[in-house]
Amino acid sequence: MTKVNRFLATEDDTLALGRALAPLLEPGMVLHLRGDLGAGKTTLARGILRGLGHEGRVKSPTYTLVEPYQFSRLYLYHFDFYRFLDPEELEASGFREYFNPESVCLVEWPEKAPDLPAADLEISMRPDDKGRSIVITAHTEAGRRCLDKLTY
Ligand SMILES: Nc1ncnc2c1ncn2[C@@H]1O[C@H](COP(=O)(O)OP(=O)(O)O)[C@@H](O)[C@H]1O
Ligand SMILES: [Mg+2]
Repeated sequence: MTKVNRFLATEDDTLALGRALAPLLEPGMVLHLRGDLGAGKTTLARGILRGLGHEGRVKSPTYTLVEPYQFSRLYLYHFDFYRFLDPEELEASGFREYFNPESVCLVEWPEKAPDLPAADLEISMRPDDKGRSIVITAHTEAGRRCLDKLTY
């Protein structure tokens, strides 16, 4: 499957979709999370992290650029490129090293970082009535395997 559309009526639905996605993620995958401020990107990331077994807080990486998590099966790096960084500062942060075959990278505001690794899954969220519409597009085989097994 290459594309799925869902309506998420509440925050709990966003969390549930994230939880459903979590066990399907494979090390090396890159997920781009698109949508305006308040679209629900961090909420979805929180659901994914809960689904992987993270029990603590999930901080938004808006000011830190990246929040790292370690699980037995994979590393997960949650990025937020909303805050502008000049290209030199960005390269000096070493963020490219996080994109490697052992890690899953979740990226909010991918359009603000130049030359990011391509997405296996591109996720777009937007307000819809009181909830959110979400479209997930697979761009690679790994992404399609994920969507084929998604039960939410
Ligand atoms: N499906 C949903 N329906 C209604 N509100 C939602 C939904 N998903 C998330 N929210 C709410 O949207 C708000 C902003 O979410 P957040 O994940 O911080 O957005 P972003 O990271 O895209 O800026 C939060 O208050 C969250 O509870
Ligand atoms: Mg956010």
